[in-house]
Amino acid sequence: MKIGTVEVEQGVFLAPMEEVSDLPFRVLCRNLGADIVYTEFISSEGLVRDAWRSVKKLTLHENEHPVAIQIFGGNLDVMKEAALIAEASEPDFLDINCGCWVKNVVARSAGAALLKEPDTMVTMAKTLVDAVKLPVTVKTRLGWDKNSIIIVDLAKRLEQEAGIAALAIHCRTRDMGHEGAADWSWVEKVKQAVNIPIILNGDVNTPEDCRRAFDMTGCDAVMVGRAAITNPFIFRQAKTYLRTGEFEASPSLQERIDLCLQHLRHSVAFKGEGLAVREFRKFYSGYLKGLYDASSVRRDIMRYDSFAQVEERLWLYHAQLLERGNAEHYSAELTEYEEHAMAV
Ligand SMILES: Cc1cc2nc3c(=O)[nH]c(=O)nc-3n(C[C@H](O)[C@H](O)[C@H](O)COP(=O)(O)O)c2cc1C
Repeated sequence: MKIGTVEVEQGVFLAPMEEVSDLPFRVLCRNLGADIVYTEFISSEGLVRDAWRSVKKLTLHENEHPVAIQIFGGNLDVMKEAALIAEASEPDFLDINCGCWVKNVVARSAGAALLKEPDTMVTMAKTLVDAVKLPVTVKTRLGWDKNSIIIVDLAKRLEQEAGIAALAIHCRTRDMGHEGAADWSWVEKVKQAVNIPIILNGDVNTPEDCRRAFDMTGCDAVMVGRAAITNPFIFRQAKTYLRTGEFEASPSLQERIDLCLQHLRHSVAFKGEGLAVREFRKFYSGYLKGLYDASSVRRDIMRYDSFAQVEERLWLYHAQLLERGNAEHYSAELTEYEEHAMAV
């Protein structure tokens, strides 16, 4: 598949996630094999008002390309101006958020609210396609609720009337939020109706899910959301599995701790120690998953507010695990993938 000059085969992308897909996490995921990464959504109003919180999110790292900047908003003129501002940061493409379900976004006629106003969504996409030189893509859901699934017709209109370069489909409806199973069968139907690349999102949690998504639906790429938080190694594992059909060995204890600290160090440099250490709490379980007695070390580091405390505790844990012996690092709670990977 191609988006502008970016060409990827059977791509595994990092989803846009607020307070997750920030610059340090995107760089990490790219290093671990994600083919394309997306910024968290950025408020068009914030960009136009020059609000520092929004503007900071436009910062891209030279090593993270290909990267998409995602913006959201409900006002056409503001979205157009914000798109021009975002374009100046030189991402590889711009993405419009048409799927965010949370109330304060929907109340501003943005995100998933556009699923109730498909004409407006198409007009917004066309306005941005005409306004910027970069390719413009859309990320949306199947429809507002199960009685109003409009994705097939919407995809056709976004391709033909707006000229978007690709469409990412979160295979849930707005009223599902993040609950319930994603219904991938709609992607197959959309693929039959359009020629633009279709990126499947929702419940892509393991390397086997990636394989299944490509085989079942003919999608052009998959996009991983929450599973990247609980297992940032998923990109490398998925790429290996897609390429060879083989399971990659679980990351070593040393690699997990090195990568966790490198990620945290980068976050501290990017946003300052207090905020970085606080916001980082969501990532510990991913780095420590499956390790022996990980819950007690997690309990400790969740309370810390400095990098040095976290670093000291993690290296102490490392030493304790080494003392126990290699074979006993892992707790009994392994996922199916980890069991395969352990056996490699
Ligand atoms: C913490 C969090 C923040 C999110 N923020 C965004 C966002 O900024 N933009 C967006 O398009 N979707 C956002 N999403 C939705 C994800 O991109 C994705 O569509 C959803 O999590 C389903 O994928 P998954 O089943 O792989 O998690 C967010 C999801 C989570 C869990």
